[in-house]
Amino acid sequence: MSRLVGAAAAIAVLWWVTGCGSGATPAPGPAAAIAISPQSATVESGQTRSFSATVTDADGRQVSAAEVTWSVEAAIGTIDSETGVFTAAEVESITLGRVTATVAGTSLSAVADVTVTATATSLGYAGSDTCRQCHADKHTPWSQSPHALMMREYEPGLPGVPDPAGGSISAAQVEFVLGGGSYRRQFLVPDTTRRELLVHPSQYNVANGTWTDVHRDDWQSRPWRVHCAGCHVTGFDEAIAAPTPFAEAGVGCEACHGPAQAHAASGDPADIASLDPAEGETTLARAYDVCASCHSRGTSTSGVYRFAAGFEPGQDLDAFLQPVAEGDEEAFWPRTTGAPLVSRMNHQQAIDLTQSPGHPSCSSCHDPHGATEHRAQLLRDPATDELCTECHTGIDSAAHGNHPVVEGAPTVTCVACHMPRTATSALRYDIASHAMLPIPPDATRSTLEADQIMPNSCMSSGCHQQADPSKPAMPVYPFDEAGVTAAQDQWDTWYGG
Ligand code: HEC
Ligand code: HEC
Ligand code: HEC
Ligand code: HEC
Ligand code: HEC
Ligand code: HEC
Ligand code: HEC
Repeated sequence: MSRLVGAAAAIAVLWWVTGCGSGATPAPGPAAAIAISPQSATVESGQTRSFSATVTDADGRQVSAAEVTWSVEAAIGTIDSETGVFTAAEVESITLGRVTATVAGTSLSAVADVTVTATATSLGYAGSDTCRQCHADKHTPWSQSPHALMMREYEPGLPGVPDPAGGSISAAQVEFVLGGGSYRRQFLVPDTTRRELLVHPSQYNVANGTWTDVHRDDWQSRPWRVHCAGCHVTGFDEAIAAPTPFAEAGVGCEACHGPAQAHAASGDPADIASLDPAEGETTLARAYDVCASCHSRGTSTSGVYRFAAGFEPGQDLDAFLQPVAEGDEEAFWPRTTGAPLVSRMNHQQAIDLTQSPGHPSCSSCHDPHGATEHRAQLLRDPATDELCTECHTGIDSAAHGNHPVVEGAPTVTCVACHMPRTATSALRYDIASHAMLPIPPDATRSTLEADQIMPNSCMSSGCHQQADPSKPAMPVYPFDEAGVTAAQDQWDTWYGG
């Protein structure tokens, strides 16, 4: 503001000194100064940007007849020596350099600082569409999976997406919608500078069609690029200066397989690494880190991003992500002796699973491409226990679970006890613990007076919380001291306290 006032004052003074409208303004003197505009710029690889220069005489009068020539440092691109139109070079990361304007025949010059940033194509991504022609069997199921649908350019009537007006969001503002699965939808809108995308604070909950507020007070200071982007796109790159710094929206083929332009061009399997965990320790670790790069919670090593910025499949995730630690009260429930560390927030599956080293791969239960008929891309039906008994052959469901078997099927599944829903994506406790270890009722006790009560294996999922007429008569243990004590007594009787 003060700069504008100053400029207005300077114009007024100039007007008074030169004697307004007299027509007697003398011709400008020889060139004495040159100014360049803009003085700094950020340009993406391959893009152009025009620069201009103003030459003035010793009295500050414009010398419009002066001839200006342009030059640039070769590392950042080329420039038309007469027009000042700059074309950025193809670079692999951020490259800095200068554009210079010189008054012809003099040593008068001015420089502009230029930052050239990479684009997705210059980073080696081909895009999932390119893979379809040779891998239709993977592309077809993937294209209908939540990974593919996670982030879509918004247009009215997109399948599974409500009218943003329901959350008091102006549809004209919405650029992208987040979420293609069963929990929630969120909407990305530009900030006032249009240089950042922000997550609008109205969230749509798929399960019951309601809208709730998230970060209503501070959403404008939580840019999507910093808080979310890396986990919802393919090829996030901080070197791309645009509000959309990625190769492809959504979790595409190359989010898991890595940039594959070379393989897509050659069709040669030697140009792409295998992710099949069955092929040995290296690919097992590689595949785990790929899933863990998004199905974890933490901070980038730089401390800037809420995800593993810079990680690419094949690299060691530890060098890119500082995972949330035990004791983080937002991420985990308070821990009790004898109980596993239990997640209370979503996207922590890979952190959970480290507690159950017998299961080193997500692919032992999930198909990464989504070609299954079961929920959550599960390979086998969790309701019949086959998902677990495929490997855990020695377990007698009725004896081990201590619950009756009705018509050949146990009344309580392995998943109900071993993977209770303890974490939240949209509505409270809609995400399953992946620690694979049952949670005893006692673990809940310290949270009974808190805003949120920690679920446990017996009292979550509605089992011993409410009488379910479809199941045999069972005790109901309310979430209070007496209820927890009664449930824990039963646990101790069965599993030896
Ligand atoms: C021109 C055809 C062609 C295109 C395009 C193509 N591939 Fe392939 N790809 C092949 C062939 C052939 C093989 C070897 C046979 C197989 O595994 O299907 C292969 C193998 C693979 C493998 C297995 C490697 C291994 O050693 O286990 C992966 C992963 C893969 N492709 C991913 C991709 C991705 C991702 C894309 C898109 C970016 C893509 N492919 C595009 C032809 C292609
Ligand atoms: C570290 C990676 C990561 C970060 C950071 C992250 N997410 Fe996610 N998000 C995931 C994963 C993985 C899932 C699915 C698994 C889950 O919810 O447990 C998910 C699920 C979602 C869903 C639900 C999708 C559905 O179909 O129901 C939405 C919406 C979402 N995230 C929005 C956001 C927003 C907004 C941010 C930033 C404020 C964010 N996420 C930050 C990884 C991440
Ligand atoms: C969520 C991560 C993920 C995504 C997304 C993904 N893949 Fe895979 N892909 C894997 C994993 C892990 C394997 C190893 C086999 C397994 O675990 O089932 C694999 C295996 C493959 C193979 C090896 C051969 C085979 O038959 O198993 C090909 C080819 C392949 N993927 C292509 C693709 C293509 C094409 C896309 C996009 C349409 C894609 N993948 C998307 C994780 C992913
Ligand atoms: C680039 C980040 C990213 C990577 C890598 C990734 N995921 Fe995901 N995954 C997500 C997000 C985001 C969602 C939520 C998508 C949605 O609901 O729209 C998700 C959802 C899922 C779901 C839930 C599907 C459903 O029906 O609700 C499963 C299962 C899953 N991922 C497994 C895997 C496995 C296994 C791997 C590794 C082979 C993997 N993911 C790699 C980000 C990722
Ligand atoms: C031992 C089997 C098993 C393994 C290993 C496993 N999951 Fe799951 N996963 C399940 C089951 C079962 C469900 C469904 C739980 C339910 O319906 O309550 C599930 C659900 C999910 C969901 C959907 C959200 C939810 O809780 O319903 C995501 C996302 C997911 N798993 C990701 C992963 C990732 C990533 C890995 C590897 C780090 C992994 N899973 C390893 C069995 C497994
Ligand atoms: C791909 C094979 C496989 C599948 C599928 C599988 N497990 Fe496991 N599980 C193992 C192995 C191997 C171990 C380690 C040896 C052992 O304790 O039996 C293990 C161990 C366990 C343990 C002991 C704790 C530990 O050390 O990890 C529990 C509990 C468990 N599994 C529960 C389950 C449940 C519940 C399911 C189904 C949701 C399941 N597993 C599915 C292979 C599997
Ligand atoms: C009613 C709850 C319940 C059900 C149902 C249940 N488990 Fe368990 N399971 C437990 C408890 C509790 C423990 C561990 C007790 C402890 O901490 O020692 C356990 C321990 C285990 C272990 C590790 C110790 C062992 O006995 O080998 C495995 C593996 C296991 N269960 C697998 C399964 C599988 C597979 C199923 C489904 C066929 C299943 N469980 C069903 C409650 C259950």
